[in-house]
Amino acid sequence: MNKLNRSLLLWLVGLELLLPFAPASNAASQPQIRKQPFGATAEKKTVDLYTLTNINGVEAGIMTYGGIVVSLKVPDRKGKLQEVTLGYDSLDGYLKNNTPYFGALIGRYGNRIGKGKFSLGGREFLLATNSGESHLHGGNRGFDKAVWKATEVRGQRSVGLKLDYLSPDGEEGYPGTLSVTAVYMLTNDNELKIDYSATTTKETVVNLTNHAYFNLAGDGNILKHEVMINADRFTPISETFIPTGELRSVKGTPMDFIQPTAIGARINQKDEQLVRGNGYDHNWVLNRKDSSLSLAARVEEPASGRVLEVFTMEPGVQFYTGNFLDGTIKGKGGKVYQQRAGFCLETQHFPDSPNKPNFPSTILKPGQKYATTTVYKFSAK
Ligand code: BGC
Repeated sequence: MNKLNRSLLLWLVGLELLLPFAPASNAASQPQIRKQPFGATAEKKTVDLYTLTNINGVEAGIMTYGGIVVSLKVPDRKGKLQEVTLGYDSLDGYLKNNTPYFGALIGRYGNRIGKGKFSLGGREFLLATNSGESHLHGGNRGFDKAVWKATEVRGQRSVGLKLDYLSPDGEEGYPGTLSVTAVYMLTNDNELKIDYSATTTKETVVNLTNHAYFNLAGDGNILKHEVMINADRFTPISETFIPTGELRSVKGTPMDFIQPTAIGARINQKDEQLVRGNGYDHNWVLNRKDSSLSLAARVEEPASGRVLEVFTMEPGVQFYTGNFLDGTIKGKGGKVYQQRAGFCLETQHFPDSPNKPNFPSTILKPGQKYATTTVYKFSAK
């Protein structure tokens, strides 16, 4: 054997020996879950980050602070994985900045309650007015700022995280001790599924959601994303973003997303509702037969081919186009989030339901169980 052949042989033997130790690629035969420390809050509560990975290499990073979806990496039409949510690289970002609820679990009441008050059982309850004269997303310290207890969950074709939080009676002004659970599951069908449940010790109101901001291109603004919302009606808002109570037809208005339409196509029209919302920041009344899981919205990003479908058991969805992002936040990888860098599809009961008897009820009584599911499904075209 000449020298060259011998070194080639040695090299091949070496490679063979090394192969079992080669780093695993993203795609594994089983979905995986990895836990790592992610820092601590100002009160010195430790925070963990769990990374869920399915067999396609799709990755969801979820931390125990706020139950926040820190990261979501999904493939484009060529299989290229890219981050599609807005947020920060480290816990510090979420703690320091006045974060606009990037990726967070929202409670007890997602969206607004007019004048920060409501009545139940003849008693009036006062809440923080943390958005003008309204109460927004559970108040000053909503569920997005709680440290949740995490338990790993392993399914046949999925992997996930069960998050529990016990909200004391009177927290942020709400009645009843609320025992809340949110289970995030990442399936091998590239779905991020969230099962929310809650029970209470006193009559109260509950409206849980997730506040992920998506950008399916992974960069730039979201104006070219094409959106379909499965809704013939929406709930128009007053100047204070509180629904007027009307369920208005979308026909002939820029709120009509029955046919897929680019977000940017009409967003700057001098339409009263768009002017009030500073863009899209409204609740759509979903078309549905019953409260089973059904398609609420579909979003396609033409350049990457990435598609997001949102399924929910909820009667409404808040479509928010990042109107209040203004370039002051530096997020992941130093990216500056300009206006409309991301959009949210917050599945929910309608805003201000506790003060709107004609809206589906958000009341939860002792002995009842609040249970609702939302699925974010990713694919590429
Ligand atoms: C609301 C916006 C609000 C934003 C906060 C959205 O859910 O609809 O009005 O500004 O959350 O980041």
